[in-house]
Amino acid sequence: MTLFSQIEALPRDPIIGLTELFNKDQRQQIYNLGVGVYFDKTGKVPILESVRIAQKNLIEKDCPKTYLPMNGTANFCDNAKTLVLGEEIGCVDSIFTVQTLGGTGALKLGAELLKRTDKVPLVAISDPSWENHRNIFESSGFKVVSYPYYDKKINNLCYSDLISTLGRLPSQSVVVLHASCHNPTGIDLTTEQWEEVLDLVNKRNLVPFFDLAYQGFKNSLENDRLVLEQFSKYNRPFLVASSFSKNFSLYGERVGALTTSVGAGEDKNKAYSHVKNLIRGFYSTPPTYGQAIVSEILSDNSIKNLWVSELRTMRERIVKMRVLLSNLLEQCIPEKSFEQIRKQNGMFSYLGLSVEDAYSLRNDYGVYILESGRLCIAALNEGNIEKVADAISKVISKPNEKLNK
Ligand code: LMR
Repeated sequence: MTLFSQIEALPRDPIIGLTELFNKDQRQQIYNLGVGVYFDKTGKVPILESVRIAQKNLIEKDCPKTYLPMNGTANFCDNAKTLVLGEEIGCVDSIFTVQTLGGTGALKLGAELLKRTDKVPLVAISDPSWENHRNIFESSGFKVVSYPYYDKKINNLCYSDLISTLGRLPSQSVVVLHASCHNPTGIDLTTEQWEEVLDLVNKRNLVPFFDLAYQGFKNSLENDRLVLEQFSKYNRPFLVASSFSKNFSLYGERVGALTTSVGAGEDKNKAYSHVKNLIRGFYSTPPTYGQAIVSEILSDNSIKNLWVSELRTMRERIVKMRVLLSNLLEQCIPEKSFEQIRKQNGMFSYLGLSVEDAYSLRNDYGVYILESGRLCIAALNEGNIEKVADAISKVISKPNEKLNK
């Protein structure tokens, strides 16, 4: 018996693993609508002009690459906290922010912090949710359950089931909530629905863990954090995992932040010391470069304004692609409405496509979407959208065939 003989090989990751398949595909015309990455109108992952300026400034400053504090620099943490919560709430004494390895790192660090409280009976994630949520919390030792979110029959939110399930969760359960641009469906709660959900979370003594990976991709930086502002008025514990991968187009730099509110009357330094201890045990101190770019942009108003306008351009281009895709699909299948594509928010769209449809799109047309049916609108451009729409309409229109993985 060898050391690893007892462990089984796991299936490939549904998102990153799909990109691995895509990269091996030798066909001439293939389209990666799987991973959540924004591509510009020429099909490239952009380097933002604001990022270029920040990088030039950093070269001039020529700062040494010494170890950062375990929690990240004060400048980065303050800026990240203000971005996520706004000036006023960012100043509240029971809240602290630390630098993390992307939004995923923030979720993982938060999960481990919650584990140390020994108080959390379970973690509830939406059904469906980002493919990695379950993995993150289960591998930190939590029982993970799901709350209803999307009804395939109506291709929309199943709000009353969501509310009744949340209402039955045991006290101090953690509820993972997508603050804006729900991943994978693109379907967000209305303001009134959010009010009801947050009120319920508060009354039932649940702990919200907000995933804020797409701030700025729905309406604006300020609007996309409204839910956090709304909940913070309760002065209760909550966590936020924020990512700067998408809104700064800095995916590979792995810049994110974990913001923790310990709740009124609680000493934040206890939780803070555990977060630092966890970081020290995982990777000791965070990397310097990505956070320096983000800090440079957020601390200089003129670069920040440029970044905000570049973020608007990304957001508006996605909306344009939504309109174009739904129009093209409606031209191909006039008896069907694709209005939901126009209504959904952020990078993704859920059309109610089946796993068979996903295989057929990939195998027959070179269009890669997730097996859950999620497709990334931000990967569309005027050069590929007609081919993608044509493929989707053919797949939707054809009778079901047996699975061909
Ligand atoms: C996605 O949902 O596609 C992105 O957040 C990338 C990832 O890490 O899964």
